[in-house]
Amino acid sequence: EKGGYEHFMLKEIHEQPKVVRDTINSVVKDGKIDFSSIGLTDDEMKKISQIYIVACGSAYHVGMAVQYVIEDFTSIPVRVELASEFRYRKMTLVKDSLVIIISQSGETADSLAALREAKEKGIMTLGIVNVVGSSIAREADNVFYTLAGPEISVATTKAYSTQLIAGYLLALQFAVAREEMTEEKCCELLKELYTIPDKIEKILEDKERIQWYANKLAGAKDAFFIGRGIDYAIGLEGSLKMKEISYIHSEAYAAGELKHGPISLIEEGIPVIGVLTQQELYEKTVSNMVEVKSRGASLMGLTTYGNYSMEDLADFTVYIPQTDSHFAGSLSVIPLQLLGYYVSVAKGYDVDKPRNLAKSVTVE
Ligand code: M6R
Repeated sequence: EKGGYEHFMLKEIHEQPKVVRDTINSVVKDGKIDFSSIGLTDDEMKKISQIYIVACGSAYHVGMAVQYVIEDFTSIPVRVELASEFRYRKMTLVKDSLVIIISQSGETADSLAALREAKEKGIMTLGIVNVVGSSIAREADNVFYTLAGPEISVATTKAYSTQLIAGYLLALQFAVAREEMTEEKCCELLKELYTIPDKIEKILEDKERIQWYANKLAGAKDAFFIGRGIDYAIGLEGSLKMKEISYIHSEAYAAGELKHGPISLIEEGIPVIGVLTQQELYEKTVSNMVEVKSRGASLMGLTTYGNYSMEDLADFTVYIPQTDSHFAGSLSVIPLQLLGYYVSVAKGYDVDKPRNLAKSVTVE
């Protein structure tokens, strides 16, 4: 049932090109986005003046990444909230808001409670859900089903990737419906989106290199992930992967925050993984990497082909294929999933069933 792979997690990592393609295909007809299966209409999208994205864990990290994309493509302000905070906060929700709940299982207790809270306040809701017929899918006003298929490994990979794709498609459709992006531009971006599965495949072909580096990381006590913008959101996910299955204490920081405290933790040999796919932020994050290197950090740079100056700086560099910057997270997350996976394997842990964790968190 693991299809020849040693663990479900590795099998699911390898399924990503297919499930990403399936998820795009589910809402693209004749080269155009068609949301008729989801429910949300163009007229509704025109009227929305505020978006809240509410989720837990990795799904929250998807929200963090998608926030940058929606805000870049449209004029709608987006707030990303942890479900366990959102549900207890006394917050005046703007009328004409949309609350988007992202959940693989569709059963996460805090996410479900947040959904109910929003509905009670009369706010329109949209679920981005993987499990058909789950509670969140049943109760949300609109549902975008991710087509990741059943995910067995506790550490999410393929569901995460399809959630990101759903987020991009949503951002594109909002932009077109509100006439904030031309159909032509959208078409061009959709074409680029269709190249993502093959590019993921390319990254997977090089997994042995990541395994080599993971073996070196296995002895580490702590690790840091840094990045800016979308790269920061991806760093958060890479860091969660590392801690949940490898039991290495790991933190992700917005690179600009380092000097506000965490840099005091940097000492000889500590691994710092820099994510640098956003061209306009590249030099800024490079300067943060220089700062930690001068304090003894061991650097891994994760960047796009072409940014070869990383070679001189980082001890280990991973390149991802070029794509539109909004979609780069779908590529940069893959080496980080592999890194968490291979460190866990190197340490001999039960990768698919990490201690203390459940696949679906139905308790508060
Ligand atoms: O089923 P959900 O997407 O609502 O689950 C949310 C989190 O519990 C989940 O993403 C968790 O963080 C994973 N263990 C991450 O790998």
